Amino acid sequence: MNSKRELVFLCTGSDCKKAGAKQLRKELKENLKSGSLKGRCKLIETKCMDMCKSAPVVIVGDHFCKKTDSEKVFSQIKIKTNKYF
Ligand code: FES
Repeated sequence: MNSKRELVFLCTGSDCKKAGAKQLRKELKENLKSGSLKGRCKLIETKCMDMCKSAPVVIVGDHFCKKTDSEKVFSQIKIKTNKYF
């Protein structure tokens, strides 16, 4: 069994919240709890990552998703976790 999980960092600072981080968090949580990504990722909420002009900001592994939405984040998660499927 492979226990490596991809880390997903979601900024929940004020600028990212204004840009939709709350909705993004809800969608990520719902989708990471079920389906093929269940148990493959760990969602970590962070404070401001000092990239507010690119809000909302999510980091998947070593990839920065700037001005992102759930579709972009999920496609990046799938790219990163594909090697484990
Ligand atoms: S509030 Fe998210 S990067 Fe600053």
